[in-house]
Amino acid sequence: MDRDLSREEFQRFHDLIYQLAGIHYPPEKLALLSNRLRRRLRALSVPSYDAYLGMLQHQTKGKETQEFLDSITTNETYFFRCQRHWDFFRSWAERRAQEPSVRRDGFRIWSAAASTGAEAYTIVIVLHQVLGANFGSIPIEVLGTDLSQKVLTEARAARYRPYALSQTPADVAAKYFTKVGTDELQFDPKLAKLVTFQSHNLMEPLLGGRSFDFVFLRNVMIYFDTESKAKVLRHAYAVTRPGGHLVVGESESLLNVEQPFTYCKPSIFQKPVAAPTARA
Ligand SMILES: C[S@@+](CC[C@H](N)C(=O)[O-])C[C@H]1O[C@@H](n2cnc3c(N)ncnc32)[C@H](O)[C@@H]1O
Repeated sequence: MDRDLSREEFQRFHDLIYQLAGIHYPPEKLALLSNRLRRRLRALSVPSYDAYLGMLQHQTKGKETQEFLDSITTNETYFFRCQRHWDFFRSWAERRAQEPSVRRDGFRIWSAAASTGAEAYTIVIVLHQVLGANFGSIPIEVLGTDLSQKVLTEARAARYRPYALSQTPADVAAKYFTKVGTDELQFDPKLAKLVTFQSHNLMEPLLGGRSFDFVFLRNVMIYFDTESKAKVLRHAYAVTRPGGHLVVGESESLLNVEQPFTYCKPSIFQKPVAAPTARA
């Protein structure tokens, strides 16, 4: 297949992607989507976009659906992305560490849309810097979730190209990473163990009765329309503890989105302290 999708084919793939992941591919991304699909067509020796769509529609929970989702998501991420967020998180963690209840409840943080794990491991680094050796014996729970299995596999391996550390101070990189192979950096395996990575679609509620002090939901809502954003934010709210925070990407606006968090600072929101625990 050496041509781009027709408008009509694009619309059919758009609708399937929206149905599966809540992602809205705008028409100007037709060439990008065509390129991404062509790779799957070649890998499977499928002769046309139409045949590939038929294959996906035939079994929406099959192995190829996962490969399809892996191929159409954008997974750009790096350590210490948006320094302002990490400054806020560090100050919050310093205050929280002084509260007596932290010894019992610990720190519970969710990196939703975790991609290859740089965000979840940045959380661990900041907590380690704040709490010191053995995290001051305070329980730490960091959950990283994503729709793409491919990125979750990479996240669990915790190996990064230098690009992922381009915003990481040199002394932090030297302390928490070791060089492996010719051009990769391995995040400290003892600290990496603190993060649990699991598959999760943000269009669904997060199950398991967990609640979090902080939810990082960054640089994913840019791919969602207003309706999908509202749904994801409701799900995030349901698992944020009263007084807990939500951080979204710097370029992501919640204006015009019906959602229950209150504004705190640009791209940082909070669940009111007196809020009842909502259902997803
Ligand atoms: C650009 S990355 C953002 C990574 C990280 N949060 C950051 O800010 O650096 C967006 C991630 O969202 C994931 N994603 C897209 N739609 C999703 C959905 N419906 N449910 C869960 N993850 C999704 C993609 O697979 C991708 O890894």
